[in-house]
Amino acid sequence: MSLTKDQIVAANRASWNEAAAHHREHDQWTALLKGFAQPGHSVLDETMAARLQAIGLEGRAVAQLCCNNARELLSIKNLGAASVTGFDFAEEFLDQGRELAAAGGIEAELVQTDINKIPSDYDGRFDLAVVTIGVFGWQPDLAAFFATAQRILKPGGRIFIYEDHPILNMYEDREERLPPVPDESYFRSDPYRSDDGLDYWAKEDYDAKPCFWMFHKMSDVIMALVTSGFAIEDFEEFPHNIGTREQFENQPQQLPLSYVLVGRKEG
Ligand SMILES: C[S@@+](CC[C@H](N)C(=O)[O-])C[C@H]1O[C@@H](n2cnc3c(N)ncnc32)[C@H](O)[C@@H]1O
Repeated sequence: MSLTKDQIVAANRASWNEAAAHHREHDQWTALLKGFAQPGHSVLDETMAARLQAIGLEGRAVAQLCCNNARELLSIKNLGAASVTGFDFAEEFLDQGRELAAAGGIEAELVQTDINKIPSDYDGRFDLAVVTIGVFGWQPDLAAFFATAQRILKPGGRIFIYEDHPILNMYEDREERLPPVPDESYFRSDPYRSDDGLDYWAKEDYDAKPCFWMFHKMSDVIMALVTSGFAIEDFEEFPHNIGTREQFENQPQQLPLSYVLVGRKEG
């Protein structure tokens, strides 16, 4: 049975909310709470911090689309953004984000919404929209996703994307075979169903609600960005892991593991 886009989004939301309690039990959660209690704490890696500083954060209104527990958004505030607003459909993760913000007295607005239904009050309000690590695969409609980014940005505003490389869709998440052996076609078009749960911190399976992952090729992302009215300002692929594929780093036949893509809203 094929699912509608709305059914996919609803299933994924339930699955993300279910995962939040698992993350709370993990050492990384305690480390985040301790970290954000320190002034100026940031979880951003060198690539992301340097590129965002080059774009400029001072005085900027920054939004994050699919912000999860807001660890990156709060870091962006600590790095000098004037204001930060995170959007995510999983209220359980947003509650964790509020706890992290409270731990450091960091001002952040966290809004529970499906990304394609961000209220119109936010239209044209942001200088920068940030999308990172494991977002596009949850989106059944990339054109709608980028239309939302366009809508909430000011003219001349930028979208900063720092994502897992889509070639990783070809490899099963928990496989440690080296050199990597592909399990799926890069060109798979039907959603991939998982019943293993979304606790990517512990990488442990649990008896979980189903969730659905979409395979978007690099060209799908680039063309959706361009056709929604962004001019590409920066695009670079990297050999370093930003998600859960540490084992794929430093290989003689190195796969691209991540990329940065920056678009500027035209007009
Ligand atoms: C892998 S997490 C992002 C992790 C984050 N970049 C980090 O490194 O901490 C993906 C997030 O997307 C959110 N999400 C997925 N589809 C969404 C949608 N349609 N609307 C709003 N949020 C969505 C999930 O709730 C989840 O928090």
